[in-house]
Amino acid sequence: MTKEKILVIGASGQIGVELTQALRKMYGNANVVASDLREENELLKGTGPYVSLDVMNKEMLHVQVIRQNITQIYLLAAILSATGEKNPGLAWHLNMQGLLNVLDIAREEKLQKVYWPSSIAVFGPTSPKQNCPQQTIIEPITVYGISKYAGEFWCNYFNRRFGVDVRSLRYPGLISYKSAPGGGTTDYAIEIFHEALENKKYKCFLKEDTYLPMMYMPDAIRATIELMEAPANKISIRTSYNISAISFSPNEIATEIKKHIPGFKISYSPDYRQAIADSWPQSIDDSTASADWGWKPEYDLQKTTKDMLLNLKNAG
Ligand code: NAD
Ligand code: SER
Repeated sequence: MTKEKILVIGASGQIGVELTQALRKMYGNANVVASDLREENELLKGTGPYVSLDVMNKEMLHVQVIRQNITQIYLLAAILSATGEKNPGLAWHLNMQGLLNVLDIAREEKLQKVYWPSSIAVFGPTSPKQNCPQQTIIEPITVYGISKYAGEFWCNYFNRRFGVDVRSLRYPGLISYKSAPGGGTTDYAIEIFHEALENKKYKCFLKEDTYLPMMYMPDAIRATIELMEAPANKISIRTSYNISAISFSPNEIATEIKKHIPGFKISYSPDYRQAIADSWPQSIDDSTASADWGWKPEYDLQKTTKDMLLNLKNAG
């Protein structure tokens, strides 16, 4: 069996930090190389190799893959939905070219596997709002969603045409406490915990009844690893899998937080992110992921809220 050596690109980000930690536990610290454009995250310092890397520089990326004997790449570098609307050209360029650079190198170097996340942002106003299926009408309205949908088809193409074993999940909004979120529409569901603990109040940029699909980070990390560990013959979807855990509104998460912080108050001041949220489904049907490789979430809203508050209190 080939000894795996993994490169995580975008390792200092919200998902990258926790995914790198989980992969290092599984494969050994020395076998997981963290990389990012920005500096190494404090939580990763001293736990394994780190290289400064721009995914847009294909030559340097290729050199690192060869020099480090990389067998798998997890590509997490991207510009998310809200930040993407401020600079659509840059979001398209990074999200597309970064992926194409990785897929090309994976093909040339015959890498074992590639992981690249898509998002619920591929769906648009014409997709079903409830239990949005794996295969449905997909007409995204954000540049981020367009880039994710195009990226899904590049993954599918590289798999079918060149045999690259690239796998993908359409993550919902991810809630976590270790590393700050990078500019998504679902970031309110993280900010609310910090503000509740620090100031006992939060001004939400989405309306109180805006339901969105969400997931706690431990579930997202486990889903990623379960997908990547599954035998190739179990992977029927080579674009990207729907996965789901929770669906709630700002009003519902605020009510849950109030059970722990009775004086907590939420107010609402919707901005440009409301239109993005309104274009996405409220809940997702993940039955294909369950049937193919056994996906099942563990964290509901109650468990997520309790764990977030506990960990943020301990950290503060
Ligand atoms: P993030 O913004 O927190 O992290 C991205 C990281 O990529 C950052 O550390 C950034 O410095 C790095 N990066 C940016 N440009 C780079 C470049 N040119 N070269 C190398 N690194 C670069 O994002 P995240 O939330 O961790 O998201 C990771 C992936 O998961 C993205 O593809 C995102 O679209 C996807 N995703 C995230 C969520 C979520 O809720 N966080 C939901 C759905 C999908
Ligand atoms: N959480 C992400 C965002 O809001 C969804 O991809 O952009």
